[in-house]
Amino acid sequence: MSRYEDLMKSLPLAPRKWLISGVAGFIGSNLLEQLLKLDQYVVGLDNFSTGYQHNLDEVKSEVTPEQWSRFNFIQGDIRDVGDCERSCVGVDYVLHQAALGSVPRSMNDPIATNSTNIDGFLNIMVAARDANVKSFTYAASSSTYGDHPGLPKVEEVIGKPLSPYAVTKYVNELYAEVFHRCYGFNSIGLRYFNVFGKRQNPDGAYAAVIPKWTSSMIKNDDVFINGDGETSRDFCFIENTVQANILAATTLDENSVNQIYNVAVSGRTDLNLLFFTIKSELENNGSFYTKKAVYRDFRQGDVRHSQADISKIKNLLGYSPLFDIQQGIARAMPWYVKFLR
Ligand SMILES: NC(=O)c1ccc[n+]([C@@H]2O[C@H](COP(=O)([O-])OP(=O)(O)OC[C@H]3O[C@@H](n4cnc5c(N)ncnc54)[C@H](O)[C@@H]3O)[C@@H](O)[C@H]2O)c1
Repeated sequence: MSRYEDLMKSLPLAPRKWLISGVAGFIGSNLLEQLLKLDQYVVGLDNFSTGYQHNLDEVKSEVTPEQWSRFNFIQGDIRDVGDCERSCVGVDYVLHQAALGSVPRSMNDPIATNSTNIDGFLNIMVAARDANVKSFTYAASSSTYGDHPGLPKVEEVIGKPLSPYAVTKYVNELYAEVFHRCYGFNSIGLRYFNVFGKRQNPDGAYAAVIPKWTSSMIKNDDVFINGDGETSRDFCFIENTVQANILAATTLDENSVNQIYNVAVSGRTDLNLLFFTIKSELENNGSFYTKKAVYRDFRQGDVRHSQADISKIKNLLGYSPLFDIQQGIARAMPWYVKFLR
């Protein structure tokens, strides 16, 4: 049995208290759903800046009333020390997801990105340290690879950051390392690579490509490809990301903490192929898109190719992605068709 399968059986027998910051967002609400389904106690912190009450309502509809009663929501801000302290009381495992995502957002407003992603990160880490939590797992980012051309990306070899967002995520890693050195505080950073799945916001200028294109296709709007369509990404289905978080939070192996891990599938899909993958999966769900993609300029700050080496997380945490991009899109599509109309 894999470590994850084992945890799926053992966690409900000895429930723990988890803190999910950014719980009303895409990844946070999926973590919430899985942890409540495992009968865990969860404290959620969010200020609804890019997250939504409807994400929490949807989780409520997916779990039993008994499971939902184990959830305590705190509307608050990680930039506020007091909110961070309140959220960490009695917590065993922290999954820190709250941040302002998106490279373009950080180009337009680097001060806002900096204050949430760096000041807020520091606040929650200090609060977690002072509350003596058992583990601290945080959302890092593949953007930290920056301008380094090597593929696949291995954790130890990074380039120079290409955006303010990338700087903030790298600073998180530096703080985590320094907190270990100065205070003996243990943490794990998960460098996510283009996560996708249900409850990812399709709207607005900063939306991620998969929900944005799927929504456009469902509404028969134009789909825009930035650049020549050969830009490629290692798209990672949300259920793989949830697995990585639970494995990281609960590891007892001292060699596996104070590490950074890639979280991905180690696949490589370019935007042209992504366009046809979404289109054909929509057809399988009875929705037909007849327009051609519209090509426009490359987007500033975007890296050209991204693909992860995932051997480190496999070896040290026992991670094994259960869904590749096709399987993930197929699994998410009924949700997209229902909610993105
Ligand atoms: N989605 C991806 O592909 C991806 C890739 C790499 C890294 N990440 C990281 O994963 C994390 C979660 O991303 P997501 O895709 O779920 O984004 P999201 O925007 O859906 O979720 C972020 C959540 O954090 C909350 N938040 C933001 N600022 C806050 C603050 N000051 N105080 C309290 N809550 C605040 C938002 O309201 C939102 O609910 C982020 O740290 C992001 O940088 C995501």
